[in-house]
Amino acid sequence: MQESVNVFALSGSLRQGSYNSAALRACQSLAPAGMKIEIGSIADVPLYNADVQAQGFPDVVQGLAARIQAADALLFATPEYNYSVPGTLKNAIDWLSRLPQSPFAGKPAAIIGASMGPVGTGRAQYHLRQIGVYLDLRFLNRPEVLIGSAHERFDTEGRLTHEPTREFLGKFLLALRDWVAWHRR
Ligand SMILES: Cc1cc2nc3c(=O)[nH]c(=O)nc-3n(C[C@H](O)[C@H](O)[C@H](O)COP(=O)(O)O)c2cc1C
Repeated sequence: MQESVNVFALSGSLRQGSYNSAALRACQSLAPAGMKIEIGSIADVPLYNADVQAQGFPDVVQGLAARIQAADALLFATPEYNYSVPGTLKNAIDWLSRLPQSPFAGKPAAIIGASMGPVGTGRAQYHLRQIGVYLDLRFLNRPEVLIGSAHERFDTEGRLTHEPTREFLGKFLLALRDWVAWHRR
């Protein structure tokens, strides 16, 4: 029988019509048997401030940490801003990384990304991978999901209509399921 795999996902984009958030919703609908994907939000994470931290971690940060800890894997969908990850996503990661018990250490994780340009967030994804080294996130290496020309692959309702991309995402999710299973062993 297929073991269950619970994935917690975060989009680095806050905008309503985000291609990256849409890509996560596509993952939800394409998830293989046994895999459940919940999408969280970084929208309410305040700007990191060590003085605020000294008064106690914000509830939103603690809530995100608990959901990451409870999940079998963490899935990021990152936009590319100026060849890197958006500050909003980095800020959320920075908060979470300061918790006494890091939710990231040893956690299986994966990255997808969508942009309108041809590179499909590749440069941002490599920055996120680098950040993950210090956090001890265990990122899946392959396949890399670089969704370029996003405006041609999603419709105006945010549905992923490009069939080859849907198939590729399906394969990626199977690889993520195997990655979690490998870590369990
Ligand atoms: C501040 C900023 C910087 C950007 N820099 C890049 C970039 O370096 N490379 C790229 O492909 N797209 C870049 N873009 C365009 C984004 O890829 C595009 O806005 C994309 O739709 C953002 O993802 P979202 O749809 O999930 O919000 C940038 C957009 C913004 C707002």
